[in-house]
Amino acid sequence: MAKKEFLKGFGFSSIMNFLRRGKIREKKIAKFDENQVFVPSQTNLKAAALHPKTQEGTLVEITPMGDKGNIYTFQGDGFAFFRAGQYVNIRLNYGKSIIARPISIVSSPLEALDGKLSLAIASNPKGYFAAKAPELLQLYKTFEFSGPSGDFYYSSTRDEPHVIAAAGGIGITPIISMAKAILEGSEDFKLTILYGVKNEKEAVFAPILNEICNKTNKVSFRLFYENKGEYITSLAIKAEAGNSPYSLFVCGPQGMYEAFDKIAKELGLDQKHYRKEIFGSIKSLESIPSYPGSKQKTYKGIIHMVDKIYEMELPYDQPILYALEKEGIATPNRCRGGICGYCRGRILKGEVYIPEIGDGRREEDKKKGYAHLCMTYPLSDVEIEIPAP
Ligand code: FES
Repeated sequence: MAKKEFLKGFGFSSIMNFLRRGKIREKKIAKFDENQVFVPSQTNLKAAALHPKTQEGTLVEITPMGDKGNIYTFQGDGFAFFRAGQYVNIRLNYGKSIIARPISIVSSPLEALDGKLSLAIASNPKGYFAAKAPELLQLYKTFEFSGPSGDFYYSSTRDEPHVIAAAGGIGITPIISMAKAILEGSEDFKLTILYGVKNEKEAVFAPILNEICNKTNKVSFRLFYENKGEYITSLAIKAEAGNSPYSLFVCGPQGMYEAFDKIAKELGLDQKHYRKEIFGSIKSLESIPSYPGSKQKTYKGIIHMVDKIYEMELPYDQPILYALEKEGIATPNRCRGGICGYCRGRILKGEVYIPEIGDGRREEDKKKGYAHLCMTYPLSDVEIEIPAP
């Protein structure tokens, strides 16, 4: 948009204030009195309640999902209201290490206001977090979560009134939350779920979906069994859509996203109509065509955090954030998929690799050498500056 056109519609004084914003800010800082008591505005107080940095809950129930993992239900003093499809980042301590992961919320937004929050964690003996979760998540212990995060939710101004959701295995959890939200009335759109599973045993959310579909005609679902050669294809999506516009939401294991990028292209869907849940960490670095390869197995990392300096080994194939956590260095993070920017650090020295698929940095950050450490891999010894937790 041309600058002139952009400025149309603003008053003269607001344009002048906008242009002088640097000087105005400097004057305010110069006037700041250290002894002055800061009274937050009502708007700030409401925003803090809606978007808390952290919230706490006591684990009150563990429901097995067959042998596919568990649903962990936490009770708290009313959790923050969230948009169905969002996640919270849970933080656990393991020895000196910190383990944090974003986990999709499977309960509904109104249940959160009643103090109930359920998170589904799939079992994965090879996964660092998933393997330790059953041991660390003990009944009647209290745990800390981030506030609700992520933009994988329905927005009436952005999305079509009909959402077709392609969901794979246990990764369906954000869609279950959406279906519950439609049933309770906190969301209003038509949801068609295409639920892909390996076999009947994996369809652990089919009973709850049946129950929801029997109570509302706004939600429907269809199962696709891989062991019977059934797959969610562009034809299946077209059949559900008919001639009406729709948004395609996709969530599930990482392999699904590549397949659905192709399907979305076949369907001619633009970015606005094709939405994916956060990508998560990279499973196989070497399989990314742009990865230049590593000369060494580990590198030396020097980490500056305010007035502290830490030294540690950085494995070539792990995001730098993971190495920090293994050393017990708490640094902010939420999505762990390169998008939210909470784990931002500045590379002072050395070379790193940031896969394009998880590079959610702003252009200005790229120029200034900032990196999202959950998606940054060392290619040499590095020196990094990180913020305090
Ligand atoms: S935690 Fe979100 S960008 Fe790293």
